[in-house]
Amino acid sequence: MAKLIQNGTIVTAVDQYQADILIEDGIITLIGRNIVREDAEIIDAAGHYVFPGGIDPHTHLDMPFGGTVTADDFETGTRAAAFGGTTTVIDFCLTNKGVPLSQSVLTWHRKAAGKAVIDYSFHLMIAEITDDVLAELPKMIHEEGITSLKVFMAYKNVFQADDGTLYRTLLEAKRHGALVMVHAENGDVIEYLIKEALEAGHTDPIYHALTRPSLIEGEATGRAAKLTELAGSQLYVVHVTCEEAVQQITAARNKGVDIWGETCPQYLVLDQTYLEMPNFEGAKYVWSPPLRPKFHQEALWTALSKGQLQTLGSDQCSFNFVGQKDLGLDDFSKIPNGGPCIEDRFSILYSEGVAKGRITLNQFVDIVSTRSAKLFGLFPKKGTIAIGCDADIVIFDPHIHRIISADTHHMHVDYNPFEGLEIKGEPVTVLSRGEFVIRDKQFAGTPGTGQFIKRGTYQAASADLKLLKEAAVDKGAAHV
Ligand code: URP
Ligand code: ZN
Ligand code: ZN
Ligand code: ZN
Repeated sequence: MAKLIQNGTIVTAVDQYQADILIEDGIITLIGRNIVREDAEIIDAAGHYVFPGGIDPHTHLDMPFGGTVTADDFETGTRAAAFGGTTTVIDFCLTNKGVPLSQSVLTWHRKAAGKAVIDYSFHLMIAEITDDVLAELPKMIHEEGITSLKVFMAYKNVFQADDGTLYRTLLEAKRHGALVMVHAENGDVIEYLIKEALEAGHTDPIYHALTRPSLIEGEATGRAAKLTELAGSQLYVVHVTCEEAVQQITAARNKGVDIWGETCPQYLVLDQTYLEMPNFEGAKYVWSPPLRPKFHQEALWTALSKGQLQTLGSDQCSFNFVGQKDLGLDDFSKIPNGGPCIEDRFSILYSEGVAKGRITLNQFVDIVSTRSAKLFGLFPKKGTIAIGCDADIVIFDPHIHRIISADTHHMHVDYNPFEGLEIKGEPVTVLSRGEFVIRDKQFAGTPGTGQFIKRGTYQAASADLKLLKEAAVDKGAAHV
């Protein structure tokens, strides 16, 4: 049945206007004032914003890590994402040395199939470059539609790849039009700092932060940027936490390097002091890279508002406090790294960003949805509201005040790192390809209805972005 969203204020990355939206067969087929369609189901959005569904470019669902498996899988994770206003997630498909890429991708498809309630796609981890990997990559990129490749510069002896692997991945990405993503920390130095700390008897969660200084996140970011420049390739730096990394990304962009940066809500609103909480509670705040001293938050907000960082990922990687985080009770280096944020990413950016005047409403849409759609080959099918787009839509009440709490969240994990944070605004109704997933704040979706989305290449998408860059240069703007 057709649906008609009436009386809302449509907001995209570039526009804000009052209009109705007609949805047929999951697609937006008409936008205009006072649309009449008698056979359509009416959704009243009066007093509400109508946003394109959020796109979370960074999730880890059902992922084995740190001696355990994340608490949220594709069912609980995507359900919570939908409650929070996200309608597409791009999850990281792990790979192992010596195992065919196709086998790892199949494993990830099996994790998601029959479970996801919203659409999803995968990034592909590159652990090594071998003849087999080189032979398989074109198929992964062009046929499987997995057009972004992830290289870890940290997690020594687990995920970490060396600089040679990163460089060769950048070269292959350039050949095939893919986008390389990096976790930028210096894993070799961190390994040494952890050993030193443990030998000195330092086992508490705060040492997680103290052994991963921002200086070496900046160093790794700069190294990755230079290798990208050398390769003439393209780079996306995930979960940027600090001023040093922002400076490296900005300097590289100013030189013309094709580099993009993502940050996460935790780095925008939490700081390093959370790791000092008593009774091992600090373990709830163990992410890599770690939370930073508070002054870095302002650098991140400024970078988002100036376009030096362009996207917001949740880095959803949830572990229960009891039974999972406590694996590191006697040794901070054994605390599983990561936290739950898939549900709160969208609202935190609205509340802390738009409602507090740090970013505009259009910037909010760009950061939470449109930019990721463009960078990761989903645009214009997803990431905006226009005729012909998938009807992935969030009807958002900007007036609601609520308090984030594990008592009311929908993630399958026993704490919320943002517990007690007062939030302004909340998604009320969420549509995925025109079907209700959340209806008047109640779950209305069905596991298995989320579809895997084959994505276009960065190369194809960047034809658009380059045009925008030229237009911005003409107007004297620094960045697009
Ligand atoms: O601590 C984190 N960020 N856990 C997830 C894995 C990663 O590095 O993104
Ligand atoms: Zn190719
Ligand atoms: Zn990472
Ligand atoms: Zn991550």
